[in-house]
Amino acid sequence: MASTDIPAFKFDISGLGRHAVMAELNHEDTSRLNYSMAFMRHLREQVEPKNKTVFDSRVEPSFEKKNGRKPKDRHEVRKAMLEDNAYQWWACLRRHQQELGSSNKWPIIERQAAELIAKAKVKNPKYGSLKLDPTVQTPRYQAGFDMHWMAGSYHGEGGSDDVLPGAMYDLGGLYMGSGGKFGKWNDGPGYSVIHWLKTQYPDFKPKKILDEGCTVGQSTGPYCFGWPGVEVHGIDYAAPILRYAHARAQALKLPIHFKQALAEDTGYADNSFDVVVSSMFLHETSHKAVHAIVKEAHRILKPGGIMIHVEQPPFKTMKTVWQQFVMDWDTHNNNEPFWGPMHDMDLEDVAVKGGFKKQDVLQTYAPFVTPLDDGRAVPAERGEWFFFTARKR
Ligand SMILES: C[S@@+](CC[C@H](N)C(=O)[O-])C[C@H]1O[C@@H](n2cnc3c(N)ncnc32)[C@H](O)[C@@H]1O
Repeated sequence: MASTDIPAFKFDISGLGRHAVMAELNHEDTSRLNYSMAFMRHLREQVEPKNKTVFDSRVEPSFEKKNGRKPKDRHEVRKAMLEDNAYQWWACLRRHQQELGSSNKWPIIERQAAELIAKAKVKNPKYGSLKLDPTVQTPRYQAGFDMHWMAGSYHGEGGSDDVLPGAMYDLGGLYMGSGGKFGKWNDGPGYSVIHWLKTQYPDFKPKKILDEGCTVGQSTGPYCFGWPGVEVHGIDYAAPILRYAHARAQALKLPIHFKQALAEDTGYADNSFDVVVSSMFLHETSHKAVHAIVKEAHRILKPGGIMIHVEQPPFKTMKTVWQQFVMDWDTHNNNEPFWGPMHDMDLEDVAVKGGFKKQDVLQTYAPFVTPLDDGRAVPAERGEWFFFTARKR
């Protein structure tokens, strides 16, 4: 099957995979979530493209008239765009749409809180394990606000058996934001990593993989079937997310070993893993943390082991200041303050300071891989991830 045969994205929450631990959706819930998705699609496809027309026809000419030159970076573009009424209107709608995600989902979760907590209790785990550590502190860069307007963020908990942040996250946040393009379990990033590793290093057969910032284990799942006999681990700092992840793994028969730990200080022995991976994680940390995380990855990788961080591309790789401005939206509007600074970092320098050799660092692009309902996972025709990778000597 050619990549062009990939089914069209579904802007319908009914395409999200369902398992036994998930929140139930009634008719009204489904309508509200579908409205959110339709609204996002409309904004993205019909309204947002006009921002560029506004920039080209009004904002840039007026900037040039005033300054005798074009805007030199994304910050200047942003300052100028913020003055324009049409852009202000789009920005209001976009921010409202983002907040709708939480405000539509939270009542669904809250209404079922007791049932969700009961469903997520795992007495005799058949698949993998869960190790919580109450001494793990919420990092400062997570503690101060609700990441991307997710009420309570990842760590907010009302009791020692709370799983509600996990239930919130699993109720299709990524699915709604991406129009389902990462597959019904939102596990596309894991498939992209497997596809890239098998293409780039066909003889590499990892035996032990660690997924950092694993949240509810969506991207972690595919690694369980990536190579015969592979042992899969996932860490996250947030206990309620991990309780849910462990229960979800039982429901989906995923043998993942979850542990509450900071990626800066994992507690694993030196030379433990063949692959240390993360997806959409580094940009939610800090400068200091990225350095510490990479150094720790180098320590726990076996010689020959590979570190892979799945991210969006750095600003410097983008051809125009307009593209840079568009990609910087989350920094200023989505409660993700490290988004922009992280994509400005010199990652080769980070890797070298963390212990990797310069010649073993590879920053590259890998296609989105879309898992299909029939079990196959094929590279998408459009869309790619940025991979920050390095191999330990
Ligand atoms: C955007 S989510 C990652 C999504 C996930 N990797 C996936 O593919 O579905 C970021 C996750 O990183 C976790 N996190 C943030 N800082 C961390 C740290 N220093 N150590 C471990 N986990 C961390 C958060 O709790 C959250 O679950």
